[in-house]
Amino acid sequence: MIGLNLPAACCGESSTHKEKISIRSFMRSLCVFRSIFLPAAALALILIPVNSHSKEINWSKAEASRLTLFYPGVTSWEFLTSEDHRLGGREIKQGRKECRHCHMSKEGELDLKADEIAAGTVKMKRSHNPFEPEPLPGRKGVITAKVQAAYDADYLYIRAEWESKGAGWNQKKSPSAIPDRASIQLNKSDLYFRKYGCFIACHNDLNTMPSTPSKKEVESTPFYKALGRDDVRLYAFYAKTSWNEFKSEKELSKKLKEGGRIDLRSVELGEKASTPYNGWIFDDRRWEDGAAPEASGEWAGGRYTAVFKIRLKTKDPYDISVSDGEAVSAGMAIHEDGAAKRKHYVSFPFTIGLGTDADVKAIKVSD
Ligand code: HEC
Repeated sequence: MIGLNLPAACCGESSTHKEKISIRSFMRSLCVFRSIFLPAAALALILIPVNSHSKEINWSKAEASRLTLFYPGVTSWEFLTSEDHRLGGREIKQGRKECRHCHMSKEGELDLKADEIAAGTVKMKRSHNPFEPEPLPGRKGVITAKVQAAYDADYLYIRAEWESKGAGWNQKKSPSAIPDRASIQLNKSDLYFRKYGCFIACHNDLNTMPSTPSKKEVESTPFYKALGRDDVRLYAFYAKTSWNEFKSEKELSKKLKEGGRIDLRSVELGEKASTPYNGWIFDDRRWEDGAAPEASGEWAGGRYTAVFKIRLKTKDPYDISVSDGEAVSAGMAIHEDGAAKRKHYVSFPFTIGLGTDADVKAIKVSD
């Protein structure tokens, strides 16, 4: 097991004097209730044996970590920062505790009602809105992926492997066929991304989320009209206040300078082929046309394998640049078994380190 030390930040620790007593006593009962006392907690990233799949990297040499992914339903940034999320809401708004401080046990087990969310049987505490208004039959709440990383002089390689029926891979060609998919979001600088990962870009007004505007409304709005689009996609909360309310140019360019853009890589797994995508998330989610995406995937022996190949140094402002000695934050999503849009599994954020300590340590390989 990889011993991953997180900062002691759960029970009994609070940040402001004013809130000290109430938070502390609330946290104490909460911790007993949810059994989440984490003095120096371990995350669910556990060493397990590895097989070698890639031609380029000898993956048997890379440390393997177990990454937990869960079904979030319509869990959005708005829910997460609201009173519906109780203490979680208050802590996240101030950028204090991370998801895993409250939702991972010290043994690294997920403490979140993911099975109930997937089954559509759990509601938000205050609003009584369902976490999943359209449950998919038989969908389980949690899956795990084995994650490894390696780097050479030019590239960072991130490999994920998970058990699957391979429904997307094995399906027949048809216009309605939905491929399976693995995606990874990467960012080096944003504190909120580091703590809350993909959730900073998931909103109630996105396409297929509960408060999405009508297609008509979207396509008649200048920003989307210019793009010829009728769907609202992922956006970072610091780039837009809502689907149609942008931050000022000044704020946006400041945020870009600070590294607020999130790099997004994805690989589609459908009809016995893998198709890579390279994109980004900021005030919208876009795929890059010109950039050569590099990712591959396959399904064999009841398991999918996806390998993302990320250039370390790039002049493309839409891609992340990483150097030896640095760590990047990442969030992973997996679309399985005909799941489209929001009906995927997602991870809490984790770090990948190149020659530095991180949740997933990339091994250095020669070219
Ligand atoms: C300060 C602790 C804290 C943090 C940080 C936190 N949560 Fe929570 N979360 C809670 C508590 C407590 C509940 C239960 C609320 C209730 O039912 O009263 C909860 C409930 C939830 C639920 C509803 C399902 C369930 O198990 O009750 C989801 C989904 C969720 N949190 C996701 C997240 C995600 C994603 C993050 C990070 C972006 C996060 N939480 C961060 C404390 C936290």
